[in-house]
Amino acid sequence: MVPNEQNEHHPANIYPITMMTREDKENLLGQRGIMVWFTGLSGSGKSTVALGVERELHRQGILCRILDGDNIRTGINNNLGFSAEDRRENIRRIAEVGKLFVQTGIVTLACFVSPTNDIRQLARDIIGADDFLEVYVSTPIEECERRDVKGLYARARRGEVKDFTGISAPFEAPLYPSLSIDTSRLSLEDCVQKVVQLITNHNRQK
Ligand code: ADX
Repeated sequence: MVPNEQNEHHPANIYPITMMTREDKENLLGQRGIMVWFTGLSGSGKSTVALGVERELHRQGILCRILDGDNIRTGINNNLGFSAEDRRENIRRIAEVGKLFVQTGIVTLACFVSPTNDIRQLARDIIGADDFLEVYVSTPIEECERRDVKGLYARARRGEVKDFTGISAPFEAPLYPSLSIDTSRLSLEDCVQKVVQLITNHNRQK
């Protein structure tokens, strides 16, 4: 519903409370919140790398949370498809939810195709540039299609899945990612290590 002066959803009728701060949460946990945003084609290895990062950081005593496309799309975003408009709403909600995690001091790992510069900029704007690290999982489409873990590339080629990223819908490579990793060239351990290093360096600069 579009807010107007008369209806109850108008922002003027909303009174956000002031709660304990992010700093309070970060001091409690002894860590800093950050969003690590993985972007890349389906099957590029985003979730696999994020799972490795989660395990390693957990081992180091750091609290993490993964937000992953296929999981989120069975829950909070189960009413969204893959049109440009739905993908934007998918990312908008994830960014808002992710921001809550980041502001609770949690290392948040978001794994979404998030195929356009615009959509990723939206996520960055919502979360805040200082808390946003973009990791481009740059595995070439030939390799993603060869893996075809979910069988979706084969189905997309047969025309059974419409608007499939890389086949019948666009993917724009990020222009200035914080890190690029190609999982067809680097081992999983190396990919994980690079992301962990990125997070560690970011914390040092704070
Ligand atoms: S995004 O473009 O809106 O960011 P998201 O990461 O949530 O996409 O979901 C992508 C996952 O949904 C893929 O890994 C794949 O398993 C599945 N999927 C189903 N249909 C499509 C499609 N048309 N395009 C891309 N991914 C799809």
